[in-house]
Amino acid sequence: MKKLEVELCGIRMKNPLMLAAGVLGISPSLLKRVADAGAGAVVTKSLGVEQREGFSGPVLVDLGYGLLNAMGLPNPGVREFCRELEEFGEIGVPVVASIYGFSVEEYVEAAAYAERYVDAVELNVSCPHVEKVGVQFGQSPELLREVVEAVRSAIRKPVFVKLTPNVTNIAEMAVIAEDAGADAVVAINTVRGLAINPELRRPELSAVFGGLSGPAIKPIALRCVYEIYQRVNIPVVGCGGVSTWRDAVEFLMAGASAVQIGSAVYYRGVSVFSEISRGLAEFLNSSEFSSVEELVGIAHRST
Ligand code: DHB
Repeated sequence: MKKLEVELCGIRMKNPLMLAAGVLGISPSLLKRVADAGAGAVVTKSLGVEQREGFSGPVLVDLGYGLLNAMGLPNPGVREFCRELEEFGEIGVPVVASIYGFSVEEYVEAAAYAERYVDAVELNVSCPHVEKVGVQFGQSPELLREVVEAVRSAIRKPVFVKLTPNVTNIAEMAVIAEDAGADAVVAINTVRGLAINPELRRPELSAVFGGLSGPAIKPIALRCVYEIYQRVNIPVVGCGGVSTWRDAVEFLMAGASAVQIGSAVYYRGVSVFSEISRGLAEFLNSSEFSSVEELVGIAHRST
């Protein structure tokens, strides 16, 4: 069998498949279920300084070709989550804490608290529909630089920055994140969207707008990874519509060092991790490549 293991910012993973933020990451027991199902690493639901109830329903609509959701960042707060994580014990694979804040100070506080309990933090600067949190950091070059620099200098563990596709030039934002000290960038968070119910004559989601994920956004995510890979030297983690091993291979070849899987877990259950890693292993076995790492970015070489 060929090598599926990868190392991301010094974090060793048995395969390049990570649970994406927001999906099943709300409790340690769910993270463990995903780890046991074969994920190489897991990312929590985004955590902030204070707990949040989130929006009242409807918070998610399945469009068939993707999911549109606006949960409103529900979470128990970083302290409570970390307490639960410590009480629960080993998850079995590396854990990444997704962090959001309403200010630079809140990002720093939540990240600094979480780092003692996890292997890395991922800054959610890209939630597309909660007012005053997230996306305005990721859409402003100045704020992005400020929040990444502040978190980078406040903690020791790797800092991933999850970028929004809802900008004119995502590669520019990745360059800024790298320059500000990010150890890796994750591309992409959800695409801001809208669905309207004709019978009800109103938007499907209570928050009106939401984040689109799943198969519908795969070509957008792949394009973003490809563009970013050409501009930065830090690892790129691909995210957006990965549901088969072929999708994972496409992201790796576009330049991703690892891929995150979210909506496919909703559609197919946690068995997607073992299914995709088996497909990836079979693909490698029937090729001249001896490791996942050899695939990273090769689509650039032939162009
Ligand atoms: C939520 C946050 C996100 O970053 C996202 O992409 C989608 C939904 C939320 O909790 O509402």
